[in-house]
Amino acid sequence: MISAGFGDVLWNSMPIPAFLLDPGDMIAEVNLAAEQFLNLSARSLKGSPVFDKLMIDAPIDDAFRRVRTDQASLSINDVFVGSGDRKPEQCNVQVAPMIAMPGFVLILMEPRQLADRLGRQMSVKAAAKSAIGMSEMLAHEIKNPLAGITGAAQLLSMNLTGEDQEMTDLIVNEARRILALLEQVEQFGNLRPPQKRVWNVHDLLERARKVAAVGFAASMKFVEDYDPSLPPTFVDGDQMIQVFQNLMKNAAEACGKGGTIRLRTFYDLSLRLRKRGATAALPLQIEIIDDGPGIPPEIAEDIFEPFVSGRENGTGLGLALVSKIVSDHDGWISLDSVPGRTVFRISLPVAPKESGD
Ligand SMILES: Nc1ncnc2c1ncn2[C@@H]1O[C@H](COP(=O)(O)OP(=O)(O)OP(=O)(O)O)[C@@H](O)[C@H]1O
Ligand SMILES: [Mg+2]
Repeated sequence: MISAGFGDVLWNSMPIPAFLLDPGDMIAEVNLAAEQFLNLSARSLKGSPVFDKLMIDAPIDDAFRRVRTDQASLSINDVFVGSGDRKPEQCNVQVAPMIAMPGFVLILMEPRQLADRLGRQMSVKAAAKSAIGMSEMLAHEIKNPLAGITGAAQLLSMNLTGEDQEMTDLIVNEARRILALLEQVEQFGNLRPPQKRVWNVHDLLERARKVAAVGFAASMKFVEDYDPSLPPTFVDGDQMIQVFQNLMKNAAEACGKGGTIRLRTFYDLSLRLRKRGATAALPLQIEIIDDGPGIPPEIAEDIFEPFVSGRENGTGLGLALVSKIVSDHDGWISLDSVPGRTVFRISLPVAPKESGD
C-alpha cells in the first residue's frame, strides 16, 4: 500500500503508532511503532477488521464516518486504547482522510505519556524564557485592580461602624499584604544580569547598614568586625547591598526589639567552588550574625526556596532573592543556626587583577 523507498522509511521511523484503514475498516497497513504498541506483528494485523484488534474507549466508528464524509481530520484526546492482551493505555488519537485514496483513513495514536513528556519539556523551556517578563506583567496587572478594591473598601468603611468596619479593615489589610508580595515578585522579575565592577566589600556593607539602622533595624545594635586588609571583590554593588539588607532585615525581624547584628569579614582560602569544570577560589568571607532565636527547624532545609517563610506576614522571597544574586555572582552562601546565634556567610571571589581598582 505504502510505496517502498522513502515513504517506507518515513512510515516506519515515526515514533507514533500509525494505522491505515481501508474503506471497510480493515487494517491495510501498520507502522513499526504500531506493531510495538500492540505487541503484534504486521502480518497478524493486516487484513483484520480494526475493531477486532483495537479496543478504543470512544465512539471511534462515528469519528471514521465523519472523517470520510467531511474529508477533514479529527482528534480525540485522552481515550483508552488496548488490544486483546495488552493493558489499555491513555492516548490522544488523530484520524485523518488519506488524500487521493478515497475511503481510506489514517489513525495516529500518541500515548499520553509521550505527549505529556513532550508537552512538559516545551512548557518548561517556554516558562524559563518568559518567566521574568511574565511575573513582572502579572504583578503589574494585579496591582491596579487591587488598588481599586482597597479604595472601594476604604470608601465603604466611612459609613460603617463596629463589626462591619472590621471587615473592611480586613479587606484593606489583606490587600496591602498582596501588594507587598507583588512588589517582592516584581523585584525578583526585575533582576538584571549583574553589572560588575571592583568594590571594597566594607563600603557595600556600610551602605546597607546605614539604611538598615535608620529603618527596619532601628532597634538593633550593630557591631562591625571587619578585616581591613581584605582585597576588593568584583560584584554588582546594588545587588550586593540588596543581599546584605535582606539578611539584616531577617535578623532584625527574628530578634524583635533589642538584638545585636554582627558584621564580620575575613579572608579564608579553603573554600573552592567547582563550576563549569573549573575550580574558583572564594576567599572573601562576609558573615551576618544575629543573636536571635535561630531558624525554625521545620523550614531550615528549604529556607532558600521561594515562598518559604516562618513569619506570619513573610512572603518568603527575601532569601530566594539572596541566593539567586549570590549564585549569579558565582559565590556561595551558607548557614549555621542555633538558638542565640544565626550566621549567614557569603563567600565571594576576589576581583581579578586586570579589572583595575
Ligand atoms: N536570621 C534569622 N533568624 C531566624 N529566622 C530566620 C532568619 N533569617 C530567615 N529566617 C527564617 O527564614 C524565613 C524565610 O526568610 P525570607 O527572607 O526568605 O522570607 P521572609 O523574611 O519570611 O519574607 P520576605 O523576606 O520576603 O519579606 C523567615 O520567615 C524566617 O522564619
Ligand atoms: Mg526576609
